[in-house]
Amino acid sequence: MDLQNYIAQKTSFVDARLDAEMPGEDAAPRVLHKAMRYAVFPAGKRLRPVVCMAAAEAAGADGETAVLPAMAVELFHSYTLIHDDLPCMDDDDTRRGKPACHVEFGEANAVLAGDALQALAFELLARHQPPECAARMVAELAHAAGSLGVAGGQVEDLALGDEPTTAEMVDYIHLHKTADLFCAAATMGAMAGRADDRQLEAMSRYGTSLGLMFQITDDLLDLPPSGKPDTTDGASYLLVHDIDAARARTRSLADEATTALADFTGPGKDALAAIVEWVVRREH
Ligand code: IPE
Ligand code: IPE
Ligand code: MG
Ligand code: MG
Repeated sequence: MDLQNYIAQKTSFVDARLDAEMPGEDAAPRVLHKAMRYAVFPAGKRLRPVVCMAAAEAAGADGETAVLPAMAVELFHSYTLIHDDLPCMDDDDTRRGKPACHVEFGEANAVLAGDALQALAFELLARHQPPECAARMVAELAHAAGSLGVAGGQVEDLALGDEPTTAEMVDYIHLHKTADLFCAAATMGAMAGRADDRQLEAMSRYGTSLGLMFQITDDLLDLPPSGKPDTTDGASYLLVHDIDAARARTRSLADEATTALADFTGPGKDALAAIVEWVVRREH
């Protein structure tokens, strides 16, 4: 399985469709459309849309049947990154190796670009056919997005102060701020591939395990040379566990994710399994 080639192919397909669907920079209001495109292009890792399309393939469909949810999940992710970097949230000046959206376009435009990306995500999902499937996808992404999902996880992440936190709270934050969107990506892909309820449940376990391990590996990559995470920097797994425990947990989550793929077949399954191993070893 050549995962890098697989990711490159899926990314170029999704990016071409995103470019076609997003209003051009010359469309009014120009500053808003420039800010939206600035946040989406050039590509980040595009892991969530790739998972979404691979899940459709694992369920026996053509990956391209999942292009609308794949685009939606990346637009939604891009919105969360814009808002996450704002001065009132993590106050980060750079994102994807360039100035953050609010640094380039101002805070108000960045907030509105995030709002508009989220709206476009749901507009695209609503166009999926058949309409019953679109409705299920809209409900899936909305649940992952809301107060019991990403928004809830972000609130608790920001609420962490100087007080010591607990392992349960870090798990809660990781589950909602990060894993819920991976879960929605995998589940919507399987929905596009006409998976049955048992397969949908398995794919949701795959996505959640992958998302949790993705966030722990992110925390390991963000660890300063001192080996102690910055307490003002959100809910690092390393605030409540040591490095060996973090690595052991990523390994057990990887096993859970791979086990959830047992009932699937085809190239999508191989890609989803290879993504798990890539996340365990990732260096960016
Ligand atoms: C960053 O996600 C936010 C987290 C959940 C850690 P990614 O690392 O997938 O960001 P991009 O899309 O590749 O920039
Ligand atoms: C980002 O989490 C999660 C969301 C944007 C929902 P972090 O704040 O930990 O990720 P980075 O370090 O800014 O990418
Ligand atoms: Mg954050
Ligand atoms: Mg952040």
